Amino acid sequence: MTQSERTREEQRLTGVSRDRREGRRDAGRPPAGDNGTLGMKIQDLSAFYGGFKAVTDVSMDIRANKVTALIGPSGCGKSTYIRCLNRMHEVIPGARAEGSVTLGDQDIYAKGSDPVVIRRRVGMVFQKPNPFSKSIYENVAWGARINGFRGDVDELVERSLRQAALWDEVKDRLKESGYGLSGGQQQRLCIARTLAVEPEVILMDEPASALDPVSTQKIEDTMAELKKSYTVVIVTHNMQQAARISDYTGFFYIVNMGDPGRLWEFDETEKIFSNPERKETEDYVTGRFG
Ligand SMILES: Nc1ncnc2c1ncn2[C@@H]1O[C@H](COP(=O)(O)OP(=O)(O)O)[C@@H](O)[C@H]1O
Ligand SMILES: [Mg+2]
Repeated sequence: MTQSERTREEQRLTGVSRDRREGRRDAGRPPAGDNGTLGMKIQDLSAFYGGFKAVTDVSMDIRANKVTALIGPSGCGKSTYIRCLNRMHEVIPGARAEGSVTLGDQDIYAKGSDPVVIRRRVGMVFQKPNPFSKSIYENVAWGARINGFRGDVDELVERSLRQAALWDEVKDRLKESGYGLSGGQQQRLCIARTLAVEPEVILMDEPASALDPVSTQKIEDTMAELKKSYTVVIVTHNMQQAARISDYTGFFYIVNMGDPGRLWEFDETEKIFSNPERKETEDYVTGRFG
C-alpha cells in the first residue's frame, strides 16, 4: 500500500484524518519511498546518568521509512541512546540528555514539549516482551483507546496484529491472556500494541535477542512491511540481522576504556558491511572483536 492509499484507508476506517485524530496540525510525516526524507535529526546528543557521561556527541540523520540499525560492543551506549529518542532515558532518576532531537519540525527536548505525546509519536519495543495482563485483544486495543482512538477497534486490532505477523496465530483466541503466548509471540504482540497507537517512529532495542530462531525470523520478516508505513530504529547484536534488515547502520564504539560511547561510523548498511571507512568498524563487522 502506498502512503496515500494507507492514509485514505485510515480515514475510511476511522472517519477522521490521522492528524486530526492526533490533534496535530502538522504531522511532519514525510512521504513514503523517498530515500532522502528525514524522519529524525539528532544533533550533538550526549546522555548522562548522574555525573557519568554514557554517550557523547551523537549526530545522526534518521531517514523516514527506512530501517536504521545500531550495532556495537556491549556498554557502548546503544540502549541509552535509543531511549533518548523518545525521552525514555530521563525516566531513570538522575538521568538526562543534552543536545537536540528533532522529529518532523519539533525539537522533542524543547521547553514545553510533552514527553507523553513524544512517546506516542515515537513508540518503543523492549528487549524482553512485556505484555499487559490482559487479553490478546486488549493488549492491542487498550493503548489506542486511551489515546483517544475512535474508529473501529476490531479493525485496528486485526490490522496491527497482521502488521506484526501474529494475526494467523491468534485470531481464534483473541480473548485469551497475552501471557499464554510463547516468548516470540509475546514480542510480536508488543510490536502490534506499539503499532496500534500509530506512531511515526518505532524504536526496538534488541527485540529478538531472547527469542528462538523462528520467532526471530518472523520479526525480521515484519521489518520490510513496517518500513512502508513507519521509520524503524533497531539495536541488534546480531550482525547478520543488521545486514539483512537495515538500510542504514550506525556503529557505536568506545575509544578508550572509561570514555563515553560515540557514534563511530554511520552510513548505508551496504557500505558499513562491505567497505567501512574506519578500521574499528571493519574489525567489528567481521567479528574480530565485540
Ligand atoms: N541505569 C543506569 N545507571 C547508570 N549507568 C548505566 C545505566 N544504564 C546503563 N548504564 C551505563 O551506561 C553505559 C552504556 O550502557 P548501555 O546504553 O546499556 O550500552 P549498550 O546498550 O550499548 O550495551 C554503560 O557504561 C552502562 O554501564
Ligand atoms: Mg543495550
